[in-house]
Amino acid sequence: MRTTPLHRDFGVEVHNVSLKDITASQGYEDLRRLFEEHSLLLFRDQDLSDEAQLEFGALFGPLEDRHDRPKPEISPVANLDATGAVISSEADRHVQNLRANFLWHTDSTFLPVPALVNVLQARTLPNEGGETELVSTRAGFARLDPALQDRLRKTVFRHRYAHSRAKIDPELAKQALFTKWTDQQWKAVWRNPVNGAESLYIASHVCGVSDMDDAAGQAFADELVEAMTVPDAIYTHIWRPNDVLIWDERATLHRGRPWPYQQARKLVSCCVSLQARDGLEEMRANA
Ligand SMILES: [Fe+2]
Repeated sequence: MRTTPLHRDFGVEVHNVSLKDITASQGYEDLRRLFEEHSLLLFRDQDLSDEAQLEFGALFGPLEDRHDRPKPEISPVANLDATGAVISSEADRHVQNLRANFLWHTDSTFLPVPALVNVLQARTLPNEGGETELVSTRAGFARLDPALQDRLRKTVFRHRYAHSRAKIDPELAKQALFTKWTDQQWKAVWRNPVNGAESLYIASHVCGVSDMDDAAGQAFADELVEAMTVPDAIYTHIWRPNDVLIWDERATLHRGRPWPYQQARKLVSCCVSLQARDGLEEMRANA
C-alpha cells in the first residue's frame, strides 16, 4: 500500500485502496500495521454505504453502541434534525452537543469499555469551517520532561461524560445519555502492546486525577492537553466528500472546528470497542 505522510508526528494517507474490498484475510493486516504505527489513516474517494462502513469498522473489533439498540448503527455527526432540516440555532441542545466536540477529546473514555478506533466519513460539507483537528499524544508524551513522564506512568485519570458537557452548559450535562455511566478510571499512559510506544491517554472527559483535589486535578489535566496541542503538533483535516479518516483513540486527541450553522454538515461515524489484545486490561487503575 502506497502511503504519504499527513504530519511530521503521525498520520498517513493510504492510496489506491477501496475499503469495500478489505476483508479480515485480504488487506486488513496491512492496514492494521499502518494503524499501529501511524495512529491516523486517511482514505479518499470511498463513498461507503452505512453497512459497508460498519463492516469495515467491525474488522477492528466489536462495534460500539451507546444506545443499547438491537444492533449497532452508524452515528451521524451533523446539524440536522430527524427530518433532515438544518438546525442553525446555537442554543439548540443538538448544536450545543456538537460544540462539546470542539473541546480536545478522545472518544468514549467514559465508557466501561472505551473505543479503539473511530471510522469517520464525510457526506455533506459546508463551504467553510468544519475541519477536524488531531494531535499525536505519542509524540506529545515523548516531548514531556522525563520526570513528568515518570509521574504520569503512576497517574490515574477519572473520566465522566457529563464533565465535558458541563463545560458547554451545565443543563446539557444533565441529559440522560451523559449521566448513564459511573466514572471510569484509566491509567494516564497507554503502552501500545504491538510496538511498546507510550502515549498520553487523556480527554475533555477527565474530571479527576489520582491523589489531587478536583481543582488541582483539572488544572493539571488542562496543562497536559495544552502541552499536547501546541500549534505545530496539530494536523488539520480539511474534509472532501467521501473521505474516510480513522484514528487510534489510544494515541491521539481530536476536536471538531465550528462552521456556519446555517449550512448543513454531516459526517457519519462508527466507533469500535477496545479488546484485551489492544492493551485494555493493563490500563485499568488497579492492573
Ligand atoms: Fe470525537
